Formats: sequence, structure tokens, C-alpha cells
Amino acid sequence: MNEPTVIRPHETDLELRQVDFDAIAEIAHREFGLSLSPSKRQLVQSRLSRRVRALGLANFADYRSLLEGPNRGTEQTELLSALTTNVTKFFREIHHFERLRDDIMPDLVLRARKGERIRIWSAGCSSGQEPYSIALTALKCDPNIGATDFKILATDIDPAVLSKAQAALYRDEEIEGVPQSLFRPQDISHNPDGKSGEFTVSSDVRSLITFGVINLISKLPFSGGFNVIFCRNVAIYFDRRTQQEVWRKFANLLPEGGSLFIGHSERINKSDNADLETDGITIYRKLNAI
Ligand SMILES: C[S@@+](CC[C@H](N)C(=O)[O-])C[C@H]1O[C@@H](n2cnc3c(N)ncnc32)[C@H](O)[C@@H]1O
Repeated sequence: MNEPTVIRPHETDLELRQVDFDAIAEIAHREFGLSLSPSKRQLVQSRLSRRVRALGLANFADYRSLLEGPNRGTEQTELLSALTTNVTKFFREIHHFERLRDDIMPDLVLRARKGERIRIWSAGCSSGQEPYSIALTALKCDPNIGATDFKILATDIDPAVLSKAQAALYRDEEIEGVPQSLFRPQDISHNPDGKSGEFTVSSDVRSLITFGVINLISKLPFSGGFNVIFCRNVAIYFDRRTQQEVWRKFANLLPEGGSLFIGHSERINKSDNADLETDGITIYRKLNAI
């Protein structure tokens, strides 16, 4: 019997001409703030060749027409998905959740009990593990927080990951290694629909969260602000100028002393002029207005 031919990914890649790369990079930057430097050309070629073939198109020129054509919205989101990752996990960067639990939530719980509106935003929430970790932390601090005006907004640009977030079904492995002490046993249970190897989060947890599609580089559709914002491992894809714009938008939505949590490889510098000061590892606090 013949051995199956091993096809290396680059052998199946379609030709990506400079003109195609430049046009795709321009769209990705204009629509999503993505920074595709020339060094990313091979990555773009490899990730998008698969997509172009799956669509039954012959080459990148046809793909560019699709990206600028009448159905561009849908395909541009696919483009973003292909070029970025949705990797996330429960209680990722655990020190953020410890900080939330020990230093931030106690005050927010008191204020929520007095009737104040309290909002936390998980911006770029991917498949939901981040907002569920926030909700689990909040419930741990006050099991009755659902009776107050406390809400978490969880948004992402990608509707596919948001559907997964809303379904709240995860594989057992996805919670492996997470210390049990971080949640109440009743908040995490096996999928009641009987599928083994899957768990879900309780309605107590889910009811704290509202989901929605938001592109962080568009005009943000909020009238009220947020007490705390999580935007972790999202701005890493943006160029410097776009990052600065996003940090400033967040700062404008925070009250004095409000907190912003960002990803482990992201930083906000003084020169970003975002009215935010360092308040721990990848944690920032909104400065007092002068
Ligand atoms: C690596 S995941 C981070 C998930 C989670 N915040 C965490 O740290 O575990 C990055 C997410 O950012 C989203 N994203 C990328 N560009 C975005 C944009 N312009 N607006 C909103 N979300 C975006 C992606 O769809 C993806 O789900």
C-alpha cells in the first residue's frame, strides 16, 4: 500500500503577491486596527490560503474582491478570526482575579448593596471564560449580588466566539487545574443535557452577564461608564496608535480610581497620555481629574 503523501502547509499555500498582502493588511488595519507588518506575510499567506480554498476561490485577488464586496462584513470577520487567536481560559492570569476579589469587589459589593449601579466590562471576551471568571469571583464575594444592580458586559468582535460564550458549555479539560476554591461548587456542574465530559455554569452566574458584539476600534456605543474594565490579550494585535486610542477610550469610561486590567504582554506608558497609572502587574487605575 502506498504511504499517504505528507503535504507540508507551505506547499499548499496560494501565491500571495505583495499587492495582495498590502491590500489585506490595509483592510485589517482599517477595520480592526490590526498591525500586519511585512514580517507577518508568511503567516498571512498560510492562514488565509486555507480560507481562500475553503471558499472555493482560485487566488488572493478573488479573495480581495470578496473582502471589499457586498458581503464584506461577514468575510472581514472571518479574516480577523483567521489572523488572531481566541485562546483563553478560566481564571487566566490568576493574580487579576485575586486582586478583583480582595481589593476591588469588597467596595463594589457595599456600593451595589446600597443601590448603586456597578458595571464590569470584559472587552474581547472570546468564548466566555473571562466574564464567567469575573462573575464567579463576584458571587464568591457576595452570593446575593444578582439581587443588586451589578452587571457584567461581555463583548467580542467575533459572533462565533460569542455564541460559544453564551452556550456556556465547556469541556472538562478546560477547567482542569483551576483551584476549586475559586468557585462555589453549585456554580459549575456537568451539562444537564447529559453529554459526558462537558460542564456548564449555573444560571446564577450567567444571569450576571450580558453579551454583545463590539469592535473596539469603532465608536463605542455606551452612555454610562464602567467601574472595572478587563481588556486582556486583545490590544496585542493593534499598532501603537490604535492601542493608545483604545486605552484612552477605556480611561474615558472609568471613574476616578476605576481599574483597567490588560494582558501579560501589554503595557500602558505615560506617553500614551491615557490618564491611567500603574496599580500592579498589568493593572491600571484611572487618575484623578486635575
Ligand atoms: C486572545 S483572545 C483574549 C480573550 C480573553 N480576553 C483572555 O485574555 O483570555 C482575543 C480576542 O479579541 C478579539 N478581538 C480582536 N480584535 C478585536 C477588536 N477590534 N474588537 C473586539 N474584539 C477583538 C478576538 O475575536 C478574540 O476573541
